[in-house]
Amino acid sequence: MFNQKHKFTHLSLFALAFITVAACNNPSTDSTEIAETAITESVIATNLMPPDDAAQTVNQLMVVHKSPTCGCCQKWVDYLEEEGFSVEVHNHDDLNPIKESLGMNNPKLYSCHTATIGNYLIEGHVPASDIKKILSEKPDIAGLTAPGMPMMSPGMNSRTPKDYAVLSFTDNGESEIYSQY
Ligand code: CU
Ligand code: CU
Repeated sequence: MFNQKHKFTHLSLFALAFITVAACNNPSTDSTEIAETAITESVIATNLMPPDDAAQTVNQLMVVHKSPTCGCCQKWVDYLEEEGFSVEVHNHDDLNPIKESLGMNNPKLYSCHTATIGNYLIEGHVPASDIKKILSEKPDIAGLTAPGMPMMSPGMNSRTPKDYAVLSFTDNGESEIYSQY
């Protein structure tokens, strides 16, 4: 028991030292470097957590941009929180300029809300399982989208996704099917 506890403290100190060194080596405000540091920290945090907690929470913050009157957007936010995400909501009267400024440049891929997590964009009623998958597999894509308003999607009428496709898309707006439900 004593040995286990001692080992854990040792590991924590090592992680803390590593984070401090990483932070000192990155004095610039380059967003990629900040993002990489954040990912390193979250990986370390995950490794230090008991296995059960690590499986239940997503360490990166999900930032959701939506219209203040969108009911299905709020339901999707509630669903994500139930799935272990920490969510920050920003309401905007006009979402299109927000979408464009975040890099959504193909209106065919648009849905009711636009979110970011890590370096990824999440557009519309994308299931939590697909988001968790890209966070762990880190594919070279800009993000995931469920264009339009799929009726049988989380936040709409079905917590279990049915009868629609989630697409992955790149920075130049090209898309392909990521998950077919
Ligand atoms: Cu919606
Ligand atoms: Cu929405």
